[in-house]
Amino acid sequence: MDATGAGGAPVARRFAGRVALVTGAGSGLGAALAQRFAEEGAAVVVTDLNRAAAEEVAAVIAAAGGVALPLHLDVAEEPGWTAAVERVEQVFGRLDVLVNNAGMIMRRGIAAQTPDGWRRMLDVNLTGAFLGLRACALLLAARGCGAVVNIASTAGLTAHGDAAYTASKWGLRGLSRAAALEFVGRGIRVNAVCPATIDTPLTAAGPAGHLAANSAAIPMGRPASPGEVAEVVLFLASDQASFVTGAEIAVDGGLIAGGIAWMRAQLQAGYREPV
Ligand SMILES: NC(=O)c1ccc[n+]([C@@H]2O[C@H](COP(=O)([O-])OP(=O)(O)OC[C@H]3O[C@@H](n4cnc5c(N)ncnc54)[C@H](O)[C@@H]3O)[C@@H](O)[C@H]2O)c1
Repeated sequence: MDATGAGGAPVARRFAGRVALVTGAGSGLGAALAQRFAEEGAAVVVTDLNRAAAEEVAAVIAAAGGVALPLHLDVAEEPGWTAAVERVEQVFGRLDVLVNNAGMIMRRGIAAQTPDGWRRMLDVNLTGAFLGLRACALLLAARGCGAVVNIASTAGLTAHGDAAYTASKWGLRGLSRAAALEFVGRGIRVNAVCPATIDTPLTAAGPAGHLAANSAAIPMGRPASPGEVAEVVLFLASDQASFVTGAEIAVDGGLIAGGIAWMRAQLQAGYREPV
């Protein structure tokens, strides 16, 4: 790909010669991640439940001069992971980065959620990352410098109206820390990012007024762009983060720092005594 990015600024090539696998890479944050890894020189394994979406993103990367392998992968299915890793080994002979990005949300509280819906959410958002770590660990360890980034959420740092989503993201933070300790001796770093609202199709699918309300709750007053979150993920996956493992970075425009105090101040500022 070009050595210059937007505005003609030079693009770093931190992943030249490396291979990165991104799950849920057919849309939103995953698509942005796949493109940024490719821009920085990685061969990208573009995986998604939606085969056509993965192929589209891979075609965009290839058209820009990058290397991309689109693969159909439901992260909740173990045989799919086995097949994907076999294919990566066959085509590239190595894997350096795994980003467990695939995720779903149902926006249901406990009373409205079904046991099957609860299980599916945990299967995709949490067990999917476990299966990914399990399937990729050997290949990631082969060169002694593998990196895993799990996409959690600020819903994994606080409560959220969707109980299964909240539980899955809290669980993903726990899994990340446990994995960081288990794999430290094999040279694999494992970290998590916790984004607040990101402007992606997942957010756009929310109820009317959802994005505006979420933006008002964020001290910066707006959602993140997928690119802003991708930059943090690339940092954690790169050698620049060589001493960072078991960490979580909130990419949240100040949401968690502001907490209740920020929300109270916002509500007070909006309150007017009736005259
Ligand atoms: N959008 C937000 O506001 C926000 C905030 C915090 C965290 N996140 C997290 O970021 C990640 C990406 O979200 P997004 O906003 O880009 O969503 P998105 O809906 O735009 O994209 C998600 C992608 O994951 C794929 N996917 C869904 N289930 C899958 C499965 N079982 N196996 C493989 N792929 C599957 C979808 O096909 C889709 O391409 C998710 O983990 C989400 O929880 C999103």
